[in-house]
Amino acid sequence: MKKNIKVKKWYNDFFDDYYLRSYKDIVSEERTLQEVGFIEKSLKLSQKSRILDLCCGHGRHLIELAKRGYIMTGQDLARNFLKIATETAKKNDVKVKFICGDMRHIPFHGEFDAIFNIFTSFGYLENDEEDFKVIKQVANSLKIGGKFLLDIRNRDWILANFQYKDWRIIDDLVILEERHLDSSFKKVITKVTYIEKGKIGKITEHSARLYALSNIQSMFKKAGLSIQKVYGGLDFKRHTIKSQRTIIIASKR
Ligand SMILES: C[S@@+](CC[C@H](N)C(=O)[O-])C[C@H]1O[C@@H](n2cnc3c(N)ncnc32)[C@H](O)[C@@H]1O
Repeated sequence: MKKNIKVKKWYNDFFDDYYLRSYKDIVSEERTLQEVGFIEKSLKLSQKSRILDLCCGHGRHLIELAKRGYIMTGQDLARNFLKIATETAKKNDVKVKFICGDMRHIPFHGEFDAIFNIFTSFGYLENDEEDFKVIKQVANSLKIGGKFLLDIRNRDWILANFQYKDWRIIDDLVILEERHLDSSFKKVITKVTYIEKGKIGKITEHSARLYALSNIQSMFKKAGLSIQKVYGGLDFKRHTIKSQRTIIIASKR
């Protein structure tokens, strides 16, 4: 008899309290507000737009956009993050719909005026085909003319400035990140060690595929999305090989 064995993927348990604590200073409130401003302007959102934050995490962009009057849905795989987002929405007295589920299955069709996927939340899946399923689902759940914003690392910059190791200290947490590339230089695999009070708290790993802009262009084209703009940051910077980020704004044909 064939057994239905569920293989645990890194993204099923990487996004926990250690992750939130280690990114606390990086995703400051000031930065989030600036990013929300970029989302509003670059997607040219009109009041009452229906928007999906795909891989919304603990809701830092989503809740602020709901406060500004947009009709927000957030989807994420991490139940613990959605719990935080739900509580924050309640505290702020805003209505938000939450979907707990994998980004390959967006349970809507022709629903959204805009979708965004921010802070390198793409490239996590097992291979290019699985990642492409996400783009297809995005296209399927957008209205005709609806916009998609994808924010990923710039592959050219990462390869030219590859950092094998770094240490960070946030409050009483020490974080060691050790990185390597797969044999085709397409994926960054990072081993993360969290150290607390001189003891190892957790050792974990994450990985994300690096996409060249040309790969994204062909994936989007295949899914029925036309690229309208490419920026080098969530601040309208020009995209060059020296940009650390690749921000793509596309619309559904
Ligand atoms: C780097 S975090 C970014 C979160 C949020 N966008 C932000 O800017 O704070 C990536 C998010 O993707 C979610 N995620 C990871 N794999 C996923 C999957 N297969 N389907 C849906 N969400 C996933 C994680 O739970 C996490 O919240």
